[in-house]
Amino acid sequence: MTRPTKPIASEPIEREPIEREPIDRRIAVAPMMDWTDRHCRTLMRLIAPSILLYTEMVTTGAILRGARDRFLAFDPCEHKLALQLGGSDPDQLARSAAIGTAYGYDEINLNLGCPSDRVTSGRFGACLMAEPALVAECVAAMISATERPITVKTRIGIDDNDSFAALVDFVGAIAAAGCTTFVIHARKAILSGLSPKENREIPPLRYDVVARLKDQFPGLVFVLNGGITSEAAAREALARFDGVMIGRAAYQNPWLLARLERAVLAGRPAADPASAVLAYLDHVEAMRADGVPLSRLVKPLLGLFQGRPGARRWRRHLSEAGHGPGAGPEVIRAALALVAAAPAAA
Ligand SMILES: Cc1cc2nc3c(=O)[nH]c(=O)nc-3n(C[C@H](O)[C@H](O)[C@H](O)COP(=O)(O)O)c2cc1C
Repeated sequence: MTRPTKPIASEPIEREPIEREPIDRRIAVAPMMDWTDRHCRTLMRLIAPSILLYTEMVTTGAILRGARDRFLAFDPCEHKLALQLGGSDPDQLARSAAIGTAYGYDEINLNLGCPSDRVTSGRFGACLMAEPALVAECVAAMISATERPITVKTRIGIDDNDSFAALVDFVGAIAAAGCTTFVIHARKAILSGLSPKENREIPPLRYDVVARLKDQFPGLVFVLNGGITSEAAAREALARFDGVMIGRAAYQNPWLLARLERAVLAGRPAADPASAVLAYLDHVEAMRADGVPLSRLVKPLLGLFQGRPGARRWRRHLSEAGHGPGAGPEVIRAALALVAAAPAAA
């Protein structure tokens, strides 16, 4: 298992080039804003060495005008890691893809699925499903800016624009621009009237639509996303699709990733949740030294013992003692001791 090393320095251009192998897309963790930050990804990587990780969505504005390192810096242990971009200006997306490449990301992904009002008013995310020609232009510009794979993550439709023919046109236009990998969140988005959370729950999941797409475009790679919460469901999906992307279940129950690493990828996950925590402590110490509050560092740990004795004590201790300016790694060690002391049937 790779341990996290010191965080990447701020000048991406000087970095050693990383030897690229093809990306294994069978198991990926979804981009999730405020959830899959670099701390969460480091923990997930320590649990499961071979799964594909995605950043939270980063807008082109944040990359081109913001404090770039804040949004883009990551630990080398996080590879294979895809950067998800939000934007709709071809030139800005191309420049952002080039910057992401210089930072060392293994893949650049374009968000075509986020339904939030803020994102829609910025004219990116799911609303772009109504503009296949613009999306094709964006994808072509990104492809011309990097040798890394450009992928998209999209829905199966938006509002009334939800026919299979429209979806085929959309995917066909993006494929004609040179994109070969499509992550499909298998439900449509309703752009007015539903919150982002409701848009992940209310529109029904339609794996059958994604299966039809796969039949329609046998040469393209389709990764299924939405509602996959168990090893059995992942295996079933992998019988039909090229990969599965897991969102909420991976965050709420990160040990699921260890099971998938071993059972599906034949890889070597962390031995048990406690060893993943011990390995993560190196990252916690480095980040605390950089001033990152402990509360941010413990957030991805909360669900790690889900379903095991002591899970409640673990969660409670981290939630209660993990706040405050002086809180450090000792809080995590104390929580581990509580789990170790929990009776087997607690
Ligand atoms: C808290 C949260 C934040 C999310 N942020 C993003 C995002 O930044 N980009 C994106 O493409 N999808 C985002 N999503 C959607 C997920 O990537 C995924 O498509 C969705 O949760 C469905 O997968 P699941 O059923 O496995 O959770 C987010 C989901 C959650 C729960």
